[in-house]
Amino acid sequence: MTTDAPIRILAIAGSLREGSFNRLLVRLAASRAPEGVELVEATGLRDVEPFDADIEADGYPAGVAAFAAQVAASDAVFVSTPEYNGSVPGQLKNAFDWLSRVDGGPDRGALRDSPMFGRPAAVVSASDGQFGATWARDEMLKVLRTQGARVVAEPKLALAAAHEAFDADGVLKSPDALERLDGVVVALADTARALRAARAERSASSTGATTT
Ligand SMILES: Cc1cc2nc3c(=O)[nH]c(=O)nc-3n(C[C@H](O)[C@H](O)[C@H](O)COP(=O)(O)O)c2cc1C
Repeated sequence: MTTDAPIRILAIAGSLREGSFNRLLVRLAASRAPEGVELVEATGLRDVEPFDADIEADGYPAGVAAFAAQVAASDAVFVSTPEYNGSVPGQLKNAFDWLSRVDGGPDRGALRDSPMFGRPAAVVSASDGQFGATWARDEMLKVLRTQGARVVAEPKLALAAAHEAFDADGVLKSPDALERLDGVVVALADTARALRAARAERSASSTGATTT
């Protein structure tokens, strides 16, 4: 891949419901992605099987494989999470538990070989409550750090009163929140771009070739 190909960000809404405010954030971010950045909404979170160490040696089950393939095809991951009982929704956490494991289990590779290791990732959050799911955001960042993702923690967007935050077109009414959402995408894309350039540089210096 050339270093000037668009940065592809996989955007994951941590809620399964179609009318989710977090899905609205994902779609808004996708519609506002700057030039050179593609935000693609993840599919199939619902189909990710419950983590079970007894079956992972047989390889990722179908739902996990489909989800992990989307991650592997991305330069970075953007998560928008609600908060359930002060933490990350179970299905979202379950998916990232799988993503910290290699297809085929520990006999096939270590954490550094897993899909999220070294991958740039950012988290925003939204809730209809007054704290904007900020605990879930913090916990999701902790999960990502634990699995070796390259976390982009600033700027922060924890959208409170999400049921009142969007206009009829699905755009955030608050200019500050909109600026933060755009800022998260730009910071994530910048990190992914820098990583890609560093990789290209390393590979060029090891082969003596020039990359564009
Ligand atoms: C099981 C459950 C637990 C929840 N716990 C919290 C919570 O601890 N803190 C909070 O701010 N909101 C909590 N909520 C409210 C959700 O964050 C809120 O409904 C949010 O809009 C859901 O996200 P979505 O719109 O993306 O589906 C909870 C909702 C559910 C269904």
